[in-house]
Amino acid sequence: MTYDIATIPGDGIGQTVVEAALPVLREAGDVYGFEFDVTAYDWGTERYREEGAMMPDDALEQLEPRDAILLGAVGHPDVPDHVTLHGLLLPIRKAFNQYVCKRPTVLYEGVESPLRGYDGGDIDFVVYRENTEGEYADIGGREHRGFDNDVAIQSALFTRQGVERIVRQAFRAASRRRGKLTNVTKSNAQAYGMVLWDDIVEEVATEFPDVTVERLLVDAASMDLVRRPEEFDVLVASNLFGDILTDIGAVISGSMGLAPSANVNPEGEYPSLFEPVHGSAPDIVGREIANPLATVLSGAMLLEHVGEPEAAAGVRDAVRAQLAAPAAPRTPDLGGEASTFEVARDVEARL
Ligand code: NAD
Ligand code: IPM
Ligand code: MN
Repeated sequence: MTYDIATIPGDGIGQTVVEAALPVLREAGDVYGFEFDVTAYDWGTERYREEGAMMPDDALEQLEPRDAILLGAVGHPDVPDHVTLHGLLLPIRKAFNQYVCKRPTVLYEGVESPLRGYDGGDIDFVVYRENTEGEYADIGGREHRGFDNDVAIQSALFTRQGVERIVRQAFRAASRRRGKLTNVTKSNAQAYGMVLWDDIVEEVATEFPDVTVERLLVDAASMDLVRRPEEFDVLVASNLFGDILTDIGAVISGSMGLAPSANVNPEGEYPSLFEPVHGSAPDIVGREIANPLATVLSGAMLLEHVGEPEAAAGVRDAVRAQLAAPAAPRTPDLGGEASTFEVARDVEARL
């Protein structure tokens, strides 16, 4: 079996972590008996500065036939983020209907959480983030009305279809896991979209009598992720709230450099995109100290998605074993001195 994979390393440490993680996935192929046909796309901010666009006009046509996409990160300190992100990552998520953004948080053995009293295995939840509409709908405008009179409107879009499909996926996940779903909204302040969202959660809940539903406002949820993370199983949230909650998830499980993510089109009508939760990290770029494990674990999610669950488990086990081994190489975010490539090569060897 050969899988047709697109890579978009993108900007900053995105390039380093994808370069480091790819050999791990190829090695998984050797061990578990499949191959990758990789097409690397040099789309990103450098291209934008030379040619005026983050990606070519036919980018989506080029990506569409692929089995999956592995992306590093997008964003450069010299170009406004709304230009780069609306020019590359966000249009792919939307065009390919990747409405499920699945972001697991696992505290691995051997990794220190900044939360006191939590050890490996104590934290294990997954956020189902709505990924195509909500606060990222790109509806609004800005007007300069002279003097100090600027006005900007940024609307959030919630459709029944859009909410129902992510909520149903989250319920399915909860029923396969520990049977608990936390619905995170802000329906005390946002009485339209968030109330529609809450109503739909209540409706869909009737299809899943085995799942217990908890309701939290996003401010309290942020607090509780820090205060009692062990009690969460599956969380479902809008695009923006899911974004914020998953940075909290990353840091309480030890590092931004450990958190993977899958942007999935569950129907398989379009390719899904796998990427670390983190960004291009301009503060550490060019030093080869970025932790590659978030990207390696995103690669494991890719393997699972294309139909290689054993290889996915193999990669996860190799990462788990590395993190649990006191003498194994670690990048500085985990208190070590190893480079991005040393860490990735060590995972590869453990496969
Ligand atoms: P960031 O995730 O890039 O960095 C936040 C902090 O985490 C930094 O201190 C960074 O050094 C650290 N960090 C991140 N990844 C790490 C890794 N693999 N190993 C070790 N440390 C790591 O967030 P930011 O600084 O807010 O954003 C930087 C740029 O990235 C911005 O342009 C932003 O828009 C973009 N961004 C892109 C994505 C994406 O492409 N999916 C995600 C988030 C941010
Ligand atoms: C993420 C990022 C993106 C998001 C940004 C860069 C647009 O923060 O993938 O978490 O908000 O989705
Ligand atoms: Mn984010």
